[in-house]
Amino acid sequence: MTLHFQPSPPDHVPADRIVDFDFFHIPEGVTDPAEIWHDLVRRGVPKIFYTPRNGGHWVFLNYADIVEGYRDYSIFSTYQTPIPPIEPFPVVQPQGVDPPEHKVFRSLLAPMFTPIAVRGMTDEIQRRAIALIESFADKGECDFIGQYAERFPTALFLYLFGLPESRLDEFLDLANMFFRSTDPEARAKNIVEIYAVLDKLFREKQDNPGTDIASVIVTSRDPQGAPHDWTDILNCGFLLFVAGLDTVTNTMAYIWRYLATTPAAQQHFRDRLDDPDAFLLAVEELMRINAVSNIYRRVTHDCEYKGVQFRQNDRVILPNTVANRDPKVFENPDMIDLDRAVNVHVTFGVGPHRCVGSHLAKRQVMVSMQEWLKRIPAFELSPDQSGQTVFGGSVMGFSGMKLRW
Ligand code: HEM
Repeated sequence: MTLHFQPSPPDHVPADRIVDFDFFHIPEGVTDPAEIWHDLVRRGVPKIFYTPRNGGHWVFLNYADIVEGYRDYSIFSTYQTPIPPIEPFPVVQPQGVDPPEHKVFRSLLAPMFTPIAVRGMTDEIQRRAIALIESFADKGECDFIGQYAERFPTALFLYLFGLPESRLDEFLDLANMFFRSTDPEARAKNIVEIYAVLDKLFREKQDNPGTDIASVIVTSRDPQGAPHDWTDILNCGFLLFVAGLDTVTNTMAYIWRYLATTPAAQQHFRDRLDDPDAFLLAVEELMRINAVSNIYRRVTHDCEYKGVQFRQNDRVILPNTVANRDPKVFENPDMIDLDRAVNVHVTFGVGPHRCVGSHLAKRQVMVSMQEWLKRIPAFELSPDQSGQTVFGGSVMGFSGMKLRW
């Protein structure tokens, strides 16, 4: 969606900090949406700059500032952050709440996504990956996004929430509308529908709890022993829906695009199918180089940060893709080194809101790659990429990507 809401820069922003930059807009001919961010660095714009686009917001380009934006919630809050501003905005749980309140839902979710908990989901992740891959393996081609990268995390969401696989198409429609529609009316209706589905689901789980995540959330108690506020429960379900689908879809899209264009990388992973540690190390590097999320913050009070004047409610964007290629932190940052040993990337954020689902996300990617490489021979991008578009925004990626083998 290209939004040109462009108020005049506020008077606390000096002219030499202003850059005209619209992170929703991917210019014609740009085939990788992350390049609009790297282009800023190449152009040598200030490492902390302000763009009047999309309601006006700051952008951080140094790894150290991006990490500070994640960590210092006394200045950079997660409460009501959308860019362009939408107010009021649902206070998603736990991401939209600053510490210490943040820990109520955080500590409810965290135990369900530990490495050990995720290991317990592996059979189910594997079963779903195999079923999807085998549905097209003998065809010699597929639309990777439509036939795999969108379906897979959505199918897993159904499993985690104790919903039947038969509802996959309904949830795919809801997710597709949410992530891809640029029509404000259709989007507003879609959000109401998602909340209605979650409301019905949580009520059913309240009456008949199982062992799934929805049941755990709805039957849990707050620190005083009382049931959680119903709105918070819905907002937590909504966050899990929003946080765990498009991010995984587009991370996979980036990774498969790289593999399809880099036969040596396919071979690197094929050679390590029986070595999960080496395989995971290489996946970690693909996570670094393919960081799809640009995260928002909101300034809590008028203050000065590294010589720059911020005003209360200013918005800030933390582009992980830029942090992950900061030469002050990563040696040869633009090189994909599948054996990179030290990898302090921020693809999953850092600090109090660091991604709860990171182990699950990595497991989804890793199992998908393993099962794919066992069933699909050397593959490449199909010459016909008609219908493919690239998009920017808070999650960047591709719609449509035809592969052949
Ligand atoms: C490759 C896939 C993923 C990426 C790149 C990603 C990225 C992120 C990032 C950058 C944050 C920090 C947000 C902030 O600081 O404001 C975050 C938070 C979060 N993610 Fe993920 N995520 C992914 C997959 C998932 C999955 C599969 C789940 C499902 C369980 C999930 C659930 C969450 C939740 C609940 C939070 C909020 C945590 C909190 O506020 O304490 N994410 N994610």
